[in-house]
Amino acid sequence: MGNWFHRNYDRMMGPLEKRVLGAMRRRLLSVAEGEVLELGAGTGANFAYYRSASRVTATEPETAMLAQAEIRAREAAVPVRLVQADATRLPFPDASFDTVVGTLVFCTIPDPAAALAEAWRVVKPGGKLLLLEHVRLRHPLLAKLQDWLTPAWMAVCDGCRLNRRTAELVHRTGFETLEEEERVGGLFVAVRAARPQHRSTSSTAT
Ligand SMILES: C[S@@+](CC[C@H](N)C(=O)[O-])C[C@H]1O[C@@H](n2cnc3c(N)ncnc32)[C@H](O)[C@@H]1O
Repeated sequence: MGNWFHRNYDRMMGPLEKRVLGAMRRRLLSVAEGEVLELGAGTGANFAYYRSASRVTATEPETAMLAQAEIRAREAAVPVRLVQADATRLPFPDASFDTVVGTLVFCTIPDPAAALAEAWRVVKPGGKLLLLEHVRLRHPLLAKLQDWLTPAWMAVCDGCRLNRRTAELVHRTGFETLEEEERVGGLFVAVRAARPQHRSTSSTAT
């Protein structure tokens, strides 16, 4: 079921989860509260870290990933409902979530600006956006190397780009960044941001 990447995702990520990502997920998701929407939940790697959410609506477009996420949804400490959906076309009303979460997903979504505009639309004014992403490095030579590797990386890793500037895009969408945590020389960044109370449209919305 699914492609090679979908079938082997958890196994490939295991060492990185243990050394870096698990602790970042734990810290970031400790503030995921109320009605939580997760974008591109994959196999449900975040579900075990939700503690303060009243409910998690976990969206994911890939059937093979959703099937694996179902197992983790049953084991979670909070209720998790799974919805098959693309992050750029969310089947939810405006301002319907307290927190929107995306981890290692804005690297893969073909149109990340459209997905962030959707996140803006569905989160309540004053609500949170919590992201954990790998991003384009600040070091110019390393960033060039990421640019060079990206086409091959995309082919192997289900469309994942190594060189996205996701933290900047969050800011450009209109979210207010409250805190950033960087690891591995800035390769991984956890962003805690908020939709301001008093602006009704995102910067990228028409
Ligand atoms: C690298 S995996 C990350 C999975 C999970 N969020 C995690 O932290 O382990 C990227 C995920 O993004 C999903 N994805 C790809 N395009 C998407 C889109 N347009 N909308 C929502 N999710 C998407 C993929 O199906 C995949 O599950």
